[in-house]
Amino acid sequence: ENINSALSDYVSYHNRFNDSSENPLIIEIKKYLHDENRKPINGNGGIETIVDNVDNIISFEQYNKFISSRRSVRSFSKKQVLESDIRNVVNLSIKTPSVCNRQGWGVYAYFRREEIDNLLKYQNGNAGFGEEVNCLLVVVGKSKAFSRFEYNQLYIDGGMFSMSIVNSLHALGLGSCPLNLCMPYSREVKLKKLANIKTDERLVMMIAVGHKKNEYIVAKSPRMNAESVLTINN
Ligand SMILES: Cc1cc2nc3c(=O)[nH]c(=O)nc-3n(C[C@H](O)[C@H](O)[C@H](O)COP(=O)(O)O)c2cc1C
Repeated sequence: ENINSALSDYVSYHNRFNDSSENPLIIEIKKYLHDENRKPINGNGGIETIVDNVDNIISFEQYNKFISSRRSVRSFSKKQVLESDIRNVVNLSIKTPSVCNRQGWGVYAYFRREEIDNLLKYQNGNAGFGEEVNCLLVVVGKSKAFSRFEYNQLYIDGGMFSMSIVNSLHALGLGSCPLNLCMPYSREVKLKKLANIKTDERLVMMIAVGHKKNEYIVAKSPRMNAESVLTINN
């Protein structure tokens, strides 16, 4: 239905600017839309007009403060992370841009101690704090959303989705640490089985989640300066 309404708006948009009655693509779309078997056009697709309003956007200073105050947290209090917190985080994170808006990502959340411990055994970077992880997220990419030549896109979109999750957790005041899932495919298959993750989904990363303590230690993780990553062509 969303596709139908998007196509319908596409046709009207063309009609506004030029006579598209001869355009073979438009003719084909019209035929498709008028097919008796098609569902009615009442989906959420299509276009809308935005009136830019800077008042709706936080300032660069506020954004700087938010981004600069996020640190990878590797020490958590015992306070339970709520299922509702994770739902709120995912509700916000699905606004992440994705290729063709395909949203070929997913996230699994684990709350049971034993399950978290078992899953973290497959991850090589949580020594010393794994036992404090209160909620474990596993971000996946859906291979069915991508064609053969788009396989890297799964990790690009999945990585962007993961970043949104990390930032949304930060906005909620929760601490988090991304955890790599770089492993041989045979190990990935075992981990997915243990985690009840579908076989056609690929692992993007884990994210350790927990409430922060009042005071805790983080790695300084200094950054290279912008000049070393920015190439200006003017
Ligand atoms: C994909 C990814 C995987 C990571 N894996 C681990 C990990 O296995 N263990 C860990 O302690 N930190 C891990 N990190 C956290 C990084 O070490 C951390 O983001 C980086 O040092 C910058 O520090 P900051 O997040 O505090 O700014 C990972 C980060 C990313 C993005």
